[in-house]
Amino acid sequence: MTPPDLDSFKKAAALKAVEFIRDGMVVGLGTGSTAKHMVIALGEKVRAGMTLRAVPTSQETAALARQSGITLIDTDNRWDIDIAIDGADQVDPGFNLIKGGGGALLKEKIVAASARQFVVVVDETKRVKVLGGAFPLPIEIIPFGWGSTAREIETLTRSPVVLRERNGTPFKTEAGNLIVDVHLARIEQPADLEIALNQIPGIVETGLFVGRTDILIVGKASGTETLRAKNI
Ligand code: A5P
Repeated sequence: MTPPDLDSFKKAAALKAVEFIRDGMVVGLGTGSTAKHMVIALGEKVRAGMTLRAVPTSQETAALARQSGITLIDTDNRWDIDIAIDGADQVDPGFNLIKGGGGALLKEKIVAASARQFVVVVDETKRVKVLGGAFPLPIEIIPFGWGSTAREIETLTRSPVVLRERNGTPFKTEAGNLIVDVHLARIEQPADLEIALNQIPGIVETGLFVGRTDILIVGKASGTETLRAKNI
């Protein structure tokens, strides 16, 4: 059997999300292989005459947006984001997410939190019954005393905590922090876990996005499915 073409599913979801963007909007641009399709499609809209401004969630996305002709807002400023579109590593039935596989979770969460509408675009393999298991939870922590912070996380979660590395050295986020990946078997209560983790000094942000998704767009072999969170 031919394996599913996940990239085409990601692209289909991303293109569907772009349909939500109207002239004049301020758009939060996510990071990752799914968000990339959205940025490229948005660039095409701009070239076709659409006016919009954007806030990128990573340097990688900022570079692609510039290349695509999208005007970026000064990110040090106060902004007013109409819609943010981003990918996810896992989505549960309540549309809670694990994000941060690419290490951009801090800016992604700030942008998602300040957007009027948060649209999540995924291929169907990202949907799970319970968060955790195959995908570890990324947590951004400050370098000072990171080993002690990691131990606190291990004690709280009773799960292995692994410092993320790239090419044999600790992975550094754009904010100069570290990432630990927590191998949790099942995250049954993501809201409670997020609150508990946020009590640990040294944690900057977790990759749990609880109750933030307004619209979920899933790309699959049969096309796309657009689902709205129950609370809106
Ligand atoms: C970046 O840090 C992540 O949160 C991404 O949004 C997430 O990993 C999804 O990435 P893909 O679209 O590449 O799967």
